[in-house]
This record gives sequence, structure tokens and C-alpha cells, in this order.
Amino acid sequence: MSIPLSIKWNNNHLEILNQQKLPLEVEYTALEKLEDVYDAIITLKVRGAPAIGITASYGLAAAAQCYETNSLETFHQLLSKDAQYLAESRPTAVNLVWALERLRGSVLHANTVQEAKERLLEEADNIYEEDETSCRAIGEYALTLLEDYTKVMTICNAGTIATAKYGTALAPFHLGSEKGKGFQVFACETRPVFQGARLTVWELQQSGVDVTLITDSMAAHTIGAKGIEAIIVGADRIAANGDTANKIGTLNLALLAAAYQIPFYVAAPSSTFDLAIENGETIQIEERPPEEITHIAGRQIAPDDTKVYNPAFDVTPAHLITAIITEKGIIYPEYNKNIVALLGTNKGEES
Ligand code: MRU
Repeated sequence: MSIPLSIKWNNNHLEILNQQKLPLEVEYTALEKLEDVYDAIITLKVRGAPAIGITASYGLAAAAQCYETNSLETFHQLLSKDAQYLAESRPTAVNLVWALERLRGSVLHANTVQEAKERLLEEADNIYEEDETSCRAIGEYALTLLEDYTKVMTICNAGTIATAKYGTALAPFHLGSEKGKGFQVFACETRPVFQGARLTVWELQQSGVDVTLITDSMAAHTIGAKGIEAIIVGADRIAANGDTANKIGTLNLALLAAAYQIPFYVAAPSSTFDLAIENGETIQIEERPPEEITHIAGRQIAPDDTKVYNPAFDVTPAHLITAIITEKGIIYPEYNKNIVALLGTNKGEES
């Protein structure tokens, strides 16, 4: 698979593949300051739950290299302030706060500021490397579930550019390509900012996957007309009971899957689970600027002063999800019991 990496960390320099510019330009943008990292996340230059977490990790580790203090207490204060700042860039994907908390945790027992600075960089590397390994494993598990299916629908971009590599929901298609299993993927364009049209179609084309673009409103008709056999999506936050926040429109697909009696799969690494929340009711849904709906590619399409509601995510109730595919294995209902059984109560520990 030779798709450009979403994030590059070279000699203490952070660069991201600028996803605003895709597919027309493949351009890397350097993130020099913490403010650049915040801006890149909020403006979707880098997006997708795991990629946001990785970018924030390197951004925080890089910022900490410049703290001019020998006091560990001051170092921790500066680190908390910067972590808090980055955590506020986007509210829904839990990978962001998960990664920032991991970085803060990695320096709790450092004996000197220099040691703390080194540990932060190591931890950011760990998060990056673990995500690649996780996504590959998710892809392998997903392939077993999709073995008998060819026509699969997806939404948004839960692909290699939304992660360290391979992606989550798109991982089985990339791995399928490597192994000679051909899928026919139907990608919902994903209004308002077209992650499906701009990113998923581009990404799967690079892998030689047969991909067909539809508008979001064509999903119901297409499932019947084209004989879609399964739907697979990514996730931004999964509650302890399996309720799953993902890109707006995911809930529509889950309801359609139930109506058509086809499987609806969620693919996500354990870093996307928020086991501190019982269910999806308390997940904060990001609301984004009205221009994302009133304008397309900078051109106004709705009247001046149009009243807009622009939630970026929705929550799919667990009962609509056939299975959740993680790097540790496939979780089936009852999610309340089975998520904790596989992931443990605090993600790291299996029970
Ligand atoms: O607003 P975005 O583009 O960051 O939303 C992305 C999604 O909803 C993805 O499905 C999710 O983050 C998983 S990416 C592996």
C-alpha cells in the first residue's frame, strides 16, 4: 500500500498531509507551533479520530521541548496547560484526550525535565506505532467478517489518512487488495465537507479498490438497487454499552442496515472506547460553522442569513450494531459485558 502517510515526524519536525487540499493536491503542511496544531485539527487539515490523537501527541511533545525550566513542577504545569488547550480543539473523538492523557501520564515519574522531554517524544512514537499495528489487526479481523461479501458501503473516511496507517473501516479493503480479495465499495459522499468523496474515493483508488461514489441521500436506494451486503464505519467515541459516535449520517446507515437486514459493523481501536461513560447520551456532539453547509468549495449555495444546524457526528445506539471490530478481537452483543471482557475497564487491562 503506497498511500501518503497522514503524519510525518522527522528530526523533531511535525508535518501533516493537508487533507483540506485532497484530492487535488497532495501537500504536506509543517506544524511549527502549538497554535498550528490546534488550527490543523479544528480546520480538518488533519482529521479522523486516531490521526487527531497522534498529531496532538507530537504537537504536545514538540511544544514541551521548548519549555525553558529546570523545575519539574513548572514543567508539569506548562504541559497541563498546553494539553488542555489542544484538548479543546475538537470535542467528540476521544482519541484526542486519550492521547494527551497518555503523554501526561508518561512523565509522571520522570526525575528531570530532560528525561521528561525525552519520554514525551518516546510516548508519541509509541502511540503512532501502536495505531499502525492496531489498524492492521482491525483490518485482518474485519476481513474475516467480510469474507463472504463483496458489496460494502461506508461513510466518511476511516482510512489510512485518518490513522497512522491502513485505517479502521477501510483497512479490510486495503488488505483485501494486497491479498487478492476484490471488494466493491460504495462510498457515501459525506456532506457537509465531503470526506467520502474527496478522501475515501481518492484513498481507495490508490489501493486499486473498486469504489463507487454516491450522495448520502442515495444510500437507501443503493442498498436495494445494488445489493449492498454489509456496511462498515469507523468511530469517534464508543461508550461502555457500545453506543457509537461517528460522522453525521452513520445513524442513517445503521437504521437502513436494520431495515434491509444486512450487517452493520463498527471498526475502531481500543483508544476510541470511552469506558467512563455508560452510554452515548453524554457524548458531546461537535457543531461546526454554518458555512460548511451554506457554501460548497467556497461558493455560496444557500440564501444569505440561512439558519443552519450543523452537527458533525451522530450516535448510533448499540442495538443497531452487529459487531465492533477492534485490534484485540471482534466484540458482539451484549456489549455491556463483552466490551469490558475484551478491553478491561481502563482500555489497557483485560479483565
Ligand atoms: O470530522 P472527521 O472527518 O474527523 O470525522 C471522522 C470520522 O467520523 C471517522 O469515521 C472516525 O474519526 C474514525 S477515523 C479512523
